[in-house]
Amino acid sequence: MDTFDVFDPTFRADPYPVYARFRAIAPVYRGRPPTPGDHDTGWWYLFRYADVAAVLKDSRFGRAIGPALDELPPPVPPAEREPFWDMYAHWTLALEPPEHTRQRTLLNRAFTARVVDTLRPGIAARAADLLDGLAPRGRFDVVADYAFPLTLSVIAELIGIPPRDLERVKEWSLTIAAVLDYKPTWDVMAAGNRMAREFGVYLAEIAAARRARPADDLITRLQAAGGEESLSQEEVIALCVMLLFAGHETTVNLIAAGALLLQEDPAQAALLSARPKLTDAAVDEFLRLHSPIQATTRIAYADVNVGGHLIRRGESATLLLGSANRDPAAFPDPDRLDIARRPNRHLAFGRGIHYCLGAPLAVAQGGIALRLLFERCAQWRMATAPSWSETFGFRGLTELQITHRSG
Ligand code: HEM
Repeated sequence: MDTFDVFDPTFRADPYPVYARFRAIAPVYRGRPPTPGDHDTGWWYLFRYADVAAVLKDSRFGRAIGPALDELPPPVPPAEREPFWDMYAHWTLALEPPEHTRQRTLLNRAFTARVVDTLRPGIAARAADLLDGLAPRGRFDVVADYAFPLTLSVIAELIGIPPRDLERVKEWSLTIAAVLDYKPTWDVMAAGNRMAREFGVYLAEIAAARRARPADDLITRLQAAGGEESLSQEEVIALCVMLLFAGHETTVNLIAAGALLLQEDPAQAALLSARPKLTDAAVDEFLRLHSPIQATTRIAYADVNVGGHLIRRGESATLLLGSANRDPAAFPDPDRLDIARRPNRHLAFGRGIHYCLGAPLAVAQGGIALRLLFERCAQWRMATAPSWSETFGFRGLTELQITHRSG
């Protein structure tokens, strides 16, 4: 049988044909871990929509080595603990109930659809400002010049990070992406630890300033939470780092992939400009076809039968969201862009208790950014072939150079 190898450059360059093959020949596949040196008690890859969706909702699978697995060795031995992972251990995504529920209840209030609606005018103004500067150039990079600064400034402002510090924060954010992708090298890990220390010190200073003089931002609100929801300083800092990272890296990839998909399909682009009400549905379709998070991992807390295979307690499973989202059993004609697709219950934001906190914000930003790009840069064309990142878990365009006539 074919071997599924996440390190294969051909797979990374274009994962979709590989996903299609494995959905057909070995949809529940046991192989080598995606991170060298990970505890190799057995590693599973799930390719089918039904299996991925089921595991995401199943409380017998989780993110943490919780009490249920006390007797198993932790994935990182205590002696080798690193500042990066100490910080990560406080992230919502790393927690199980009841800690997860406590954090999530607090954070949910900051990211409801109603809150996001109040942010829309500011996002649109910022996107328009950026395009004012870019459009006269006639050529620019949608990723670095537009999507990146837009999403970074939106989430940074929400958190309470001053605009003058965005360059520094951008570097830290790129470092997090590198560590969290599968297979961090020692150099990457060392940079991650440095980032955790420096970003931690930086945020601690802002936090102290907000305690002295509260502002209308998340770092103030997270510190003000009381009673059962109160957070330690370490948690506040870790959550700000988490939100900063989760809040923009993926959204950049959504915007760039959406631009590319519409460029490749003029009929769908024309449909969207004729029917702007389809914007949110179109964004969902971009997320389905090019999921910014292609894979996530769960650990089995019990022996569970998945698609006819027994995943044993303590074993890990990589859930291939990017494959599930192109499964013909869930989406007719799955490789085709259909911005009016209904239903479109894609898994790009996950499912279950860890369902993306920022989904309403991401959809709003994606829609606004793409609508304005197409309005302001009439008839744009790609200046060079699009290039995709070589990473596996987070997938996105590294650049999308375009030329255009101003509209
Ligand atoms: C297109 C953009 C985005 C995509 C594709 C995306 C995708 C995801 C996915 C797949 C998960 C679940 C991971 C899992 O279950 O293992 C997740 C969780 C999460 N996302 Fe997003 N995300 C996006 C934007 C955002 C934004 C804008 C924010 C914050 C402002 C955010 C914050 C989070 C947080 C905090 C979690 C963890 C939730 C929990 O553990 O309960 N994400 N996201």
